[in-house]
Amino acid sequence: MPVLDRHQRPLGNLRLSVTDRCNLRCGYCMPEENYTWLERPEVLTLAELKVLVDAFCLLGVRKVRLTGGEPLLRGDLPELIRMLKANENLEDIAITTNGVLLAAQAAELKAAGVGRVTVSLDSLRPDRFYGLSKRNALSKVIAGLEALKELGFEKTKIDTVVLKDVNDDELIDLIHFGREMQAQVRFIEYMDVGGATRWSMDSVVSKAEILERVESQLGPYEKLGERNSAPADRYRLADGTVFGVISSTTDPFCSACDRSRITADGNWYTCLYAQKGRDLRTPLRSGVDAEGLAELISAGWSLRTDRGAEERVEMAERSALFDSEQLRKDPRLEMHTRGG
Ligand code: GTP
Ligand code: 5AD
Ligand code: SF4
Repeated sequence: MPVLDRHQRPLGNLRLSVTDRCNLRCGYCMPEENYTWLERPEVLTLAELKVLVDAFCLLGVRKVRLTGGEPLLRGDLPELIRMLKANENLEDIAITTNGVLLAAQAAELKAAGVGRVTVSLDSLRPDRFYGLSKRNALSKVIAGLEALKELGFEKTKIDTVVLKDVNDDELIDLIHFGREMQAQVRFIEYMDVGGATRWSMDSVVSKAEILERVESQLGPYEKLGERNSAPADRYRLADGTVFGVISSTTDPFCSACDRSRITADGNWYTCLYAQKGRDLRTPLRSGVDAEGLAELISAGWSLRTDRGAEERVEMAERSALFDSEQLRKDPRLEMHTRGG
């Protein structure tokens, strides 16, 4: 039964974080030395994740994206995918990964039923990749993308967070690399989300600047006239190459937002910027089934008024959303806990 929120937005898209752990330390997401991790017993089991997804599907969700942290750190991921596949209403299972463990797992993930993979990649230069992520893993990520291509994955995306004076000179190289990998590159504005404790407007490269740079080097582009809930605006270059820009910081898209996020411990957030979530693990563990959960979710969604990114744009003074002290007290405020 489809359900609308207070701004008439349907519940369409579920992002399920399967772990808060990550094997990289990207400066825009995990810049701190230490983190408070979710306790093992708090993390949902495969059977619990399955009931949750079934509940969301009862309310009209047709796409689920598995995120983290880094989802491939969860060894039982292929098994989860096989379990989710049993729900015929679920049309699409996608994964967002940093790609480090992808080459080894891509074939099994495909066989299990993953339809689409998005790989985060911020630089093609090994030293810079290390500087950005604190790990020497660029060759592994590239091997992961090559594996996707060889296995015939379609609709692969490369997500690049663009940071001023850090990697903003690689836009053209990334577009060319994406074409070689048969993957569509999307440039993401640096966002003042939880986790980004070093955020400042000075480090943001806006959509307007990104487009200007691409045009100055690759010539004019045409905007694809799409109307949907996807966060990226897409553009086509003269040679047919398509790239995207996700402008959450300077030009957000809350009016079309149909997303829900679930943390690995079963808290439900209806906005990336939300301070409070709803605990779905307690009802789940007290035996409420998918129908019962769907009722709770439906009631919550129908009250939803979130437009977090638009509210941030309206602020006079804009700085990091949370400081590290707040994040240590409530790790669910972290982007890596609520799934990006
Ligand atoms: P599908 O719709 O499943 O194809 O994925 P997608 O196109 O939404 O891409 P993905 O989920 O990988 O999102 C890419 C990036 O966009 C995220 O990592 C965030 O940086 C940003 N983003 C995604 N969803 C939202 C959102 O709801 N609000 C804002 N402000 N940014 C978002
Ligand atoms: N700004 C923009 N995107 C971010 N991500 C995480 N933190 C941020 C941030 N501060 C998203 C990016 C990245 C994925 C792992 O999470 O899309 O590729
Ligand atoms: Fe959706 Fe919140 Fe992101 Fe806006 S800021 S697009 S409401 S998650």
